[in-house]
Parts: sequence; structure tokens; C-alpha cells
Amino acid sequence: MSAGLVQAAYLVAAICFIWSLKGLSNQESARQGNYYGIAGMAIALIATIFSPDAQGFGWIIVAMVIGGAIGIFYARKVEMTEMPELVAILHSFVGMAAVLVGYNSYIEPPAPISLDLAEQHAEHVIHLVEVFLGVFIGAVTFTGSVVAFGKLRGVISSSPLNLPHKHKMNLAAIVVSTLLMIYFVKADGSMFALLVMTAIALVFGYHLVASIGGADMPVVVSMLNSYSGWAAAAAGFMLANNLLIVTGALVGSSGAILSYIMCKAMNRSFVSVIAGGFGQEVQVSSDVEYGEHTEITAEEVAEMLKDSKSVIITPGYGMAVAQAQYPVHEITEKLRAKGVDVRFGIHPVAGRLPGHMNVLLAEAKVPYDIVLEMDELNDDFPETDTVLVIGANDTVNPAALEDPNSPIAGMPVLEVWNAKNVIVFKRSMNTGYAGVQNPLFFKENTSMLFGDAKDSVDAISKAI
Ligand code: TAP
Repeated sequence: MSAGLVQAAYLVAAICFIWSLKGLSNQESARQGNYYGIAGMAIALIATIFSPDAQGFGWIIVAMVIGGAIGIFYARKVEMTEMPELVAILHSFVGMAAVLVGYNSYIEPPAPISLDLAEQHAEHVIHLVEVFLGVFIGAVTFTGSVVAFGKLRGVISSSPLNLPHKHKMNLAAIVVSTLLMIYFVKADGSMFALLVMTAIALVFGYHLVASIGGADMPVVVSMLNSYSGWAAAAAGFMLANNLLIVTGALVGSSGAILSYIMCKAMNRSFVSVIAGGFGQEVQVSSDVEYGEHTEITAEEVAEMLKDSKSVIITPGYGMAVAQAQYPVHEITEKLRAKGVDVRFGIHPVAGRLPGHMNVLLAEAKVPYDIVLEMDELNDDFPETDTVLVIGANDTVNPAALEDPNSPIAGMPVLEVWNAKNVIVFKRSMNTGYAGVQNPLFFKENTSMLFGDAKDSVDAISKAI
């Protein structure tokens, strides 16, 4: 393949990636978006492998077969609820790849393009800066993602690490790394400076994510997504690969936009996420008297639903765990056939990954037009007869609006308590992801339906 053809193929691949992102931004076109992504990646791989600069064809194939086999194995095995962990560990690979590309590019710098000596010097300086920044971003992404993986999997404590002067330490890491970069360039590429900076960046990445509390992890994962994009873009600069630069920038900026949207959904400050360590746990007083909760049976819920004119279902993480989306769809259809208006209210951070609930409901073939965003139906609760809170907890917690000391204070929530009747499906009175009690469970118009969400919804479906 000629160099010109490779660049043309890269351009087509980049356009496919942009279409892919456009498709993924809507449930109905998401599948198509994935196909564009696959096509773009296939074009990119073929063009790269057959480009005039490529060497070691056999090695590339061996690496692709091994990597592809591991990827297919995990993609088939992973549970939907484990996706954030998988995404986090994949980000760490991107970070590590950027570090390795950086060291490789440092040891074997590319041949100069320009003939002019002054320009060659400028090229060399730019290359050194690229190497230094690429290794720095990659190392931060690597350890940050490993810590995020550990926290999401529960092997590392989800409570924030609160070292004294933590923000000063972060600032010091950035200042020292900047000084080292200046020295690195002045000394015409000192291995010592590169190694010291790598060690600092690895610790910095660890500290940045370890300082963030469990409840704020969704934003951290999407932020690391963004970092991994910038790490890939940095690798693209080092390898002088235009497509990697474009793709890295697409991932980096879309990850940053997603983080911004999630920060808004959780009422967190975007800047403090980037700075790390905004998730300090607020002291929750455990001696608050919440009162008594009321229990209800599946048969009683079925009767209540049959008497309702409008029903809103707000699913959460528990629906994913119980895999209750299929019977939920079943009761939706049964009620709609009886003329009941059934809609779904989706909180932006319900479940454990962005769009988690939308994916599950789409899987169960719930029509898209009755699945609405929180903002689209939060005002409709007062006119709603029955709300079914299926495995959701933090996302329907009134304390977010009423208790300024709550760890989730300020997070917009689905205001389900304004409806006539609220039924909460869960197995116990345990807390949700943020670890805070939910006053909703003790309200007069709330009844608890205890048990596995799938069993409960199945029983209601039978009774209807
Ligand atoms: P959560 O607050 O996590 O509550 C889920 C509830 O489901 C729990 O209270 C649990 O109660 C119940 N549950 C678990 N298994 C169940 C089962 N088999 N049957 C019935 N109920 C079951 O859920 P949420 O309202 O969706 O909120 C999401 C939380 O996760 C937020 O705090 C969010 O910040 C965080 N988070 C979100 C993301 C993204 S991007 N969406 C990523 C990471 C973290 P029992 O144990 O009593 O059954």
C-alpha cells in the first residue's frame, strides 16, 4: 500500500469513527454506530499493517490473534454489571501502551523529516516533549485505571484515601514533572529524568484516583476514559500516526464531555474531578430516627397496578443484578394492554455504567418511546398513581435534596415520593452504592416489596 493510500484509508477510518460516535449517542442508532466503529477499526488495522513503514508482519498477526482471543473471551463472559471494571482495566492497557511507545520512541527516535539542520533540531525537541508528555499521561492513566478497577471490583476500599496535604502533593507532582521536562529537553533526553518522572506519574495516578470516594467513581471512570484518549493521541504524535492522533482526540474529548454531563447529573464540580479527591466522605449520623416502613405483597401490588391510570417504573442497579428487565417488560405490556399509561424514568447514573438501564431495557425490547430521561418526567410524579422503584436506591433518595450533610447532597434525583403510591423492590433495608440510608422507604405512601426483583416482578406478572 502506498503512503498516500494509507493516509486516504486513515481519513475514511476517522470519518467512520465520527459516525460511530454519532450513532452511539442514540439508542435506536447505537447498533449502526457500532458497525461504523468496527468498519473504521478494520480499515485502520489493514492500512497500518500494509503501510510501507510496517515491519514484522508475523509478529503483528501473532499479537492480534492472542489479543483478539483474550478480548473475545472476556467480551462474551463479562456480566453487564461488571462492565465498568472491564472498561477501567482496558483503560489501563491504553495507558501502559502509551508508556511503552514513549520509551520505545525515546530509545529509537524516528528519522528526521527535514533536511535543514535547524529544523531537524526543532523536530528533535518536539519529539522529546511528545515522549515526555506521552509517558506522563500514560503512566497516570495506567495506575489511575488500575485503582479504579480495584475499587469497582471491591479489592481496594472504596472510601477515599485522605492523606494530609493531598492537594499540595498533587501540585508538587505536577511542578516537579514540569521541571523534569525542562531538564529532559535541555539535557537532550536524559533517561534519568524520564525514569524519575515515570515513577512520579505512576504514584500521582494512584493517588489521584485513590483519593476519590466510591460514590463518585462513575465520573472517575469516564474521566479515565478521557485520559486514555489523550494517552493514545500522545502515542499518535510519537509514532507520527495521524489516525491515532484523531482517534485519541475523539476518545479524549468525548470522555471529557461525558464526564461533564455526569458531573452535572451528580451535581459535582468538573474541575474538582480533574483535580482528583473531591469525594470526601461526609459524616453520616447513624442515630437518625427514620420511623417504621410498611411492607406489601406481590398480589397487592398487582391490584394496585390494575387500578392505576398512570405508572412510572424507575429501575436501578438491583434490576440489573436480578436480570428483572424481561418480566418488567412483560408487566409493562400487560398493563398497557389494559390501557394503563406506563413509562420508565431513567436517572443518568442509575446502575453502574452510563446508559446501563437503557441497554437492559432495550435488550428486553421495551419500546424506546416510553423510556424517558429523569428531566423529562420529574414533574409528572404528582399526577402519577403508582411508581415502581425496581432495585434503585441512591437515584430516588430524597436526602439528596433535603439533607445538606448527605454524601449525595445536591445530586438531582427522581422525585418518586411525589406520586400517590410508591413500591420499592429490594431484598432488605440495606443501603445502595453511596452507603446512605434512604428516607423514601419510611414515607407514608411508600411500601416495601422485599425479595429478589425478578421473583417479585414475576409474581406480580402472574397475579395481573
Ligand atoms: P443503588 O443505589 O446502587 O441501589 C441498588 C439497590 O438494589 C440496593 O439498595 C439493593 O438493595 C438493591 N438490589 C440489589 N440486588 C437486588 C436484587 N437481586 N433484587 C432486588 N433488589 C436488589 O442503585 P441506583 O439507584 O441505580 O444508583 C446507582 C448508584 O451507583 C449511584 O450511587 C451511582 O453514583 C453509582 N454508580 C453509578 C455508575 C454509573 S455510571 N451509572 C457507576 C458506578 C457507580 P438490597 O441489597 O436490599 O437488595
